[in-house]
This record gives sequence, structure tokens and C-alpha cells, in this order.
Amino acid sequence: MIKKIRKLKGLYDYRRQMLGLVNDRNYEKKQNLLLQKYGIGQLPTVKPSEFFSKFPQTAGDETVRITSDFSYGISPENDYYFLCRIAKATGVKRYFEIGTWLGLSARNISDNLGNDAEVFSLDIPFDHPEIAVFNIPEHVFGYYAKEKKNVTFLKSDSKLFNPEEYKKSIDFIFVDGNHSQDYVENDTRIALDLMKSDSSIIAWHDYILVGELNKNVLCGILNTIPQHLHKHIIHLQQSNMALYSPSFNYNSFEEKKWDIPENTFTIEMTLKT
Ligand SMILES: C[S@@+](CC[C@H](N)C(=O)[O-])C[C@H]1O[C@@H](n2cnc3c(N)ncnc32)[C@H](O)[C@@H]1O
Repeated sequence: MIKKIRKLKGLYDYRRQMLGLVNDRNYEKKQNLLLQKYGIGQLPTVKPSEFFSKFPQTAGDETVRITSDFSYGISPENDYYFLCRIAKATGVKRYFEIGTWLGLSARNISDNLGNDAEVFSLDIPFDHPEIAVFNIPEHVFGYYAKEKKNVTFLKSDSKLFNPEEYKKSIDFIFVDGNHSQDYVENDTRIALDLMKSDSSIIAWHDYILVGELNKNVLCGILNTIPQHLHKHIIHLQQSNMALYSPSFNYNSFEEKKWDIPENTFTIEMTLKT
């Protein structure tokens, strides 16, 4: 019984830490001061129509196919949609993500970009202490992408990962690993190293978390992207993601809590057995 309670508590703590919800009051005070220093309360929001208007070559190609099992720990469909749509619109050839979990972001990117693109997905190794807490079986990691020939799984705690081999070669980086500020900073440093050019894009998941601004992600980003480039970091409306590329130059607006967005999406779902 005690073992079970301990395990459940471990699960609960791990989930909170993963999602960046572990903020003692002092920490939050520090984060508020940091945001004041940068003069940023929240990122400028860009409408999807404005964002994709810069890629007129893909107009009429708004549809992506998404696989999901709606289970614990995966990203919501809107984020898979935008991730894949951005990858298609910008002609991504090499995609790198931190945070594999079930392999759904990697799988969806691979499905939508086709076999010419290379997909790299980094996650902690099986002997990592965090896996023991969760008691996660090995087969979970990358489950939905294991048949995909163009997906390469990399195993390392991102703090120990040596990005040398991938430096300056990646078009699109998705940061979706450990969501504590410390790790977001570490993972953003890696992402900056990986960017192939000024047109490469970094996306951070859970900038918005359960409808609220996630200060761990925002502070992690702002502390790592050089301040003179902060003007190129945006929140893509109707997604939970923050995006950055030195090439971004968008009209933005300040999103208010009950604003009705301009776009809706058609979702056709098929149950696969
Ligand atoms: C939210 S899940 C990723 C979901 C996936 N990107 C998707 O959208 O389908 C977060 C993943 O990050 C991994 N992770 C946590 N800490 C990490 C670390 N320090 N280094 C690498 N990966 C880590 C977890 O094991 C987990 O698989």
C-alpha cells in the first residue's frame, strides 16, 4: 500500500515537474521580475492567416493528416496540425525534436513530409531515473513512429546531449522535453546550435498550458534567445506553441482572454482498429 502511494506521489510530482508546474512562490517572484526586466508580459500573438500568408506557395494546401490516440502525455491535435503545416509550408528537410514520448509528433511530421525528410527524436534513455519513477515500459517510447524509416531515435538526457553531429543542419526544431525553466533554457541552447540558417524555426510546446501562460517556458526562452532577437519570438494563435525564427516579421495583436479566433478547423476522424 505504502509502495503504491509512493509511486502515485512520484507520478504526480513527475508530471508536475515535466509540465513545469513546480513553481514555489519565490521562484515565481523571480520570474515576474525577469519578465519586467525584458518588458514582456506575454508574447505577441500572430493569427494563423497572417503567419501562413508569408508562404503563398502553399496556399490551397491547408490540410494535414494527423494520427492521435488522445492518450496521456501527447500533444493536442491543434499543435500537431500547426507543427506539420509549418513544416510543410516552409519545406522542412531536417526536423529535430526534444521529447519523443509515444512518437506521435515524429510520426505526424514524417507522414506529412514524406520519406525525403529526416526526422530526429531525442528522449531520455531507458535507464534514466525518471523512467523508474514512472515505471514506463520501453515499448512506449516512439511506439507510433517505430515503423517509420526516416525517423531516428536518439537517447540522452538533453543536458548530456552532444549536438555536434547535428549542428547548423536543422530546419525545424520542436522543444517538448522537460518543461522546467532550467531545461527549457538548456534545450533552447541546443535548438539555437542546431539551426541551419536564419530561416530555421524553433517551436516550444506548452508556452500555453491548460489555457494559461506557462512562465517556465516563456522565461526559459527569453533568457536564452539574445535580447535583440526577442522581437522575432511569437505565439501562434490557436496553438499552445511559441515560435522563433530570425526571419519572422509579423503583424501581431494582443490576444484577450475571451476573443473568438478568426479560424475554425474541420476535423474528420476515423477510428482505426
Ligand atoms: C510531452 S512528452 C513529448 C510529446 C511528443 N513530443 C508529442 O508531441 O507527441 C515529453 C517527453 O520528453 C521527455 N523528456 C523529459 N525530460 C527529458 C530530458 N531531460 N531529456 C530528453 N527528453 C526528456 C519525456 O521522457 C517525454 O517522453
